[in-house]
Amino acid sequence: MVENMSINRKTQELKARMQSLLQGGGEKAMEKQKATGKLTARERILELLDEGSFHEYDLFIQHSGKDFDMDKKILPGDGVVTGTGTMNGYPICIYAQDFTVAGGSLGYMHAKKICKIMDHAMKLKVPIIGINDSGGARIQEGVNALAGYGEIFYRNTMASGVIPQISVILGPCAGGAVYSPALTDFVFVVDKISKMFITGPDVIRTVLGEEISQEDLGGARVHAEISGNAHFFAESEMECFDQIKALFTYIPWNNTKKAEKFAMKRPKAKDYKINQIFPTDPAKPYDVRLIIKAISDNSEFLEVQELFAPNIVVGFARINGDTVGLVANQPIALAGVLDCDSSDKAARFIRFCDAFQIPLITFEDLPGYLPGVDQEHAGVIRHGAKILYAFSEATVPKITVILRKAYGGGYIAMCSNHLKADFVFAWPTAEIAVMGPEGAANIIFKSEIMEAEDPDAMRKVKIQEYREKFANPYVAASYGYVDAVIQPNETRKYLIHALEMTKSKVVENPWKKHGVPPF
Ligand code: HXC
Repeated sequence: MVENMSINRKTQELKARMQSLLQGGGEKAMEKQKATGKLTARERILELLDEGSFHEYDLFIQHSGKDFDMDKKILPGDGVVTGTGTMNGYPICIYAQDFTVAGGSLGYMHAKKICKIMDHAMKLKVPIIGINDSGGARIQEGVNALAGYGEIFYRNTMASGVIPQISVILGPCAGGAVYSPALTDFVFVVDKISKMFITGPDVIRTVLGEEISQEDLGGARVHAEISGNAHFFAESEMECFDQIKALFTYIPWNNTKKAEKFAMKRPKAKDYKINQIFPTDPAKPYDVRLIIKAISDNSEFLEVQELFAPNIVVGFARINGDTVGLVANQPIALAGVLDCDSSDKAARFIRFCDAFQIPLITFEDLPGYLPGVDQEHAGVIRHGAKILYAFSEATVPKITVILRKAYGGGYIAMCSNHLKADFVFAWPTAEIAVMGPEGAANIIFKSEIMEAEDPDAMRKVKIQEYREKFANPYVAASYGYVDAVIQPNETRKYLIHALEMTKSKVVENPWKKHGVPPF
């Protein structure tokens, strides 16, 4: 009886202690958080994970700050909620910074909690999701706060390519805090809520005398469209959580596993007809995403970095129930050229797929690399080399389909036979050449055109001559650079077969500590 009373008293005490800590920064701070349209840290985790699956740890952690009267302050959970749970039934490690507690600022123990859950994720080989909502390094803790960030960045780097790492920016993310997200695989932002910058508007005003709002400097749209730091853009937190759940249906739980296989679903043939999407006029653009939907299971495609560098399209789909990563030139944006941003975008995506055993399918239709002083000075040589490096290094199944233009460096870069694609297929509409017929004719028939009685008529003749000779897939096919010239409506059939044939592919690159890619 005495024992029971003691247990009851202790359970009541535990409840009371937890109750107080679960209030976070208190009612007022919670109300302020809600007034800005944001959910609280725990609400976010509960919305994201399967119902009833979240288990929280280290609730009783206390901060270690001593200066500036910090030793008199209690910071519940030290401003971060950590734990494990499941998403779509699979295990996940997660943390969410609690802005209601000292602005979610990162002190030494706060960082220790994050590192501990990251270490769990690595040990258990499960993905880690970090929800960022923080004023950055806790100013009162000085170098200990900086040390905390350093420990997180180190773990982000070690986990890269081993477990998927997801960053969700749901509030301010300032100073060095932005570098953990930058080291992770996918960054999710929400309109009007997410803010990311190294130095905020105040510092910019002081140092440079420039005025800019937080939103214009580092709002969600800026990072989704201009900087390319974000991979998924949502209008609301709930939409963002749906995007994360959708992404996890396509990617594996760690680098030793394959993504989950789903039941095969045929494409929606009535809505996506290749012969209606693909124009007969070779000068006309079309939306390559419709071609992807014409060949993917249930015509579904999860686009990554949709708003950034739209001249290349990257994302996930399923073919015959298996996840594939798609890299496709987009003729409706800058004619699908490769430039600095699109090369960066594609190279990073290719490396993610290669690290996580996701086969790569490339759809090619581009006039080459973008010429121009801006591009040259921005380093298109270095950036453009990234896509060459990423495709060459990738050892997952690589299948390329040349739809139309495959000119110059673009032909080589888009996972050609020479970068060790396993299969290269070409539609009969493919034009594989050093450059387009117009440019080529002007150069190689320059004197004949200039000396002709009617130069314009002669130019047309020579363009046609060049087109007939080179602007087709058959010259490349005659050298074996193209494995098969196929009918467009046979594309899915060929892809399914090629994916089946490459399932047991084993390729090992030469031993090295690591390569030195053109970062
Ligand atoms: C300690 C902080 C804090 C911080 C916010 N708070 N940021 N405490 N260290 N870095 C506290 C505030 O004092 C306040 O406490 C509470 O959090 C809420 O902050 P408010 O300013 O009232 O909120 P809001 O108006 O919404 O503004 C949010 C904000 C602003 C934009 C994030 O707080 C801000 O500018 N903070 C500083 C951002 C920053 O420069 N961080 C340092 C980056 S340097 P009370 O007690 O009043 O509720 C860095 C280096 C890392 O991170 C390098 C690693 C390599």
